[in-house]
Amino acid sequence: MLLLPAARPDDPGHASLAAATGMETDVTETNNPAEDGAAHPDHSDGRTAPELASEELKPGTLLLDGQYEILRFLNSGGFGITYLARDSLDRLAVIKECFPNAICHRVETMVKTRSRKHAAEFETTLQTFVDEARSLSRLAHPSVVGVHQVFEDNGTAYTVMDFIDGPDLHHIIDATEGAFSPAETVVILLHLLRAVEFIHQAGILHRDISPDNILIDPAGKPVLIDFGAASEPMIPGSRILTERLVIKDGYSPQELYLIGAEQTPASDLYALAATFYHVISGAAPPPSQRRLAALAVGAPDPCTPLSRRFGGYPPGFLEAIDAAMRVLQRDRLQSATEWIALVQRGLTR
Ligand SMILES: Nc1ncnc2c1ncn2[C@@H]1O[C@H](COP(=O)(O)OP(=O)(O)O)[C@@H](O)[C@H]1O
Ligand SMILES: [Mg+2]
Repeated sequence: MLLLPAARPDDPGHASLAAATGMETDVTETNNPAEDGAAHPDHSDGRTAPELASEELKPGTLLLDGQYEILRFLNSGGFGITYLARDSLDRLAVIKECFPNAICHRVETMVKTRSRKHAAEFETTLQTFVDEARSLSRLAHPSVVGVHQVFEDNGTAYTVMDFIDGPDLHHIIDATEGAFSPAETVVILLHLLRAVEFIHQAGILHRDISPDNILIDPAGKPVLIDFGAASEPMIPGSRILTERLVIKDGYSPQELYLIGAEQTPASDLYALAATFYHVISGAAPPPSQRRLAALAVGAPDPCTPLSRRFGGYPPGFLEAIDAAMRVLQRDRLQSATEWIALVQRGLTR
C-alpha cells in the first residue's frame, strides 16, 4: 500500500478515474492485491523502492536514551517505517517512525527534510502523527492494537505499540484455501465488528480496513492495526486529523476515491465486508470503482453476492455482508451495531 496526501495531483501515483465513472474523481491507486492475487503490496517487503532500503534504522539502533532497541525492519509505507523493537524490560514492541519519504531523508540516524522548503510541511506531519498517537492511546479494546507511548527522537516522532505475534489475515487466506471454517469466520468477524463499533463510538474512522491490517494473535483473536489513515470526522467541530488517504482496490469503498466525499461508519463497514468477502469466497471483490461505473450505466454489478453461494453459515450471515458491501453508502448497513444484531439473530435461530 501507499499512503499519500489526499490532494497531490503532481504525484506519479495519481490518476483520474473520471473517464471510468463519469464522476470527478482523483485517485491514488497503488497496491492491488485484489486483482492480481499477489501476496502483498509492493512495499510490504519494503524492497521495491530502492531509496527506501537505505532509509530504515539499522538493527541495534537505540531510541529514547536506550529505552528501546530496534531489532528489525518490518515494513515501510509512504509516511512511516515500522520496526520490531525491544523495550528496557526485554519485551517486544512494534515502533512506527514518522517518515514521510517524499519530503524527508535520513542522515545517519537523524531524519531531515529534503530541502528547507519542506520544513513547515514536515512539522505539520509530525504534529499530526503525535496527535494521532495520543488519540489512539485512549482506545483500549482487545481487538484494537494497544498504543502505549509516543516520543520524539532523531528529529522525528515514534509510536510504540503492542507486538502481536501472529500472521496477518492476508497471508493466511493467501496461503491456505478455506483457512477458516464458517464457525471460525463468524467468531472472527464478530470480534472485528465489536472493535469497529468501539472505534466508531469513540468517533474514529479507521479508513484502511483490509486483510493486511488485521493480525491474528496466537489465541486466534483478530487485532486491527494500522490506524495511519484514521481520522476523527465524527466529532462535531473536530478537525480531520490527517489528510492521508489509503486506497486499496477491492477493499476501499467508492467514496474513498473521491476527494472531499463524506466518509461515514458505512465506509469502514464496506471495507470490513470486502475483507470477509475475500475470506469466504477466496478472492477480493472487484474494485468499488468498477461496481460504481456499472451502476451508473445500469449494467449488472460485477460483484457476485455471497448469499446462497456458500453453505454452513448462520441464517442471514452472508446476506449481512452483502448488505454492508452495497456500492452506495446510503444502501449499506449503517452501523456495526446493526450488523452485530443481524449476526446474532442468525445465531439464535
Ligand atoms: N502491532 C504489531 N504487531 C506485529 N506486527 C505488526 C504490528 N504493527 C504492524 N506490524 C507489521 O508491520 C506491517 C506494517 O504495519 P502497518 O501498521 O500496517 O503499516 P503500513 O501498512 O502503513 O506500512 C504490518 O503489515 C505487520 O506485518
Ligand atoms: Mg498496513
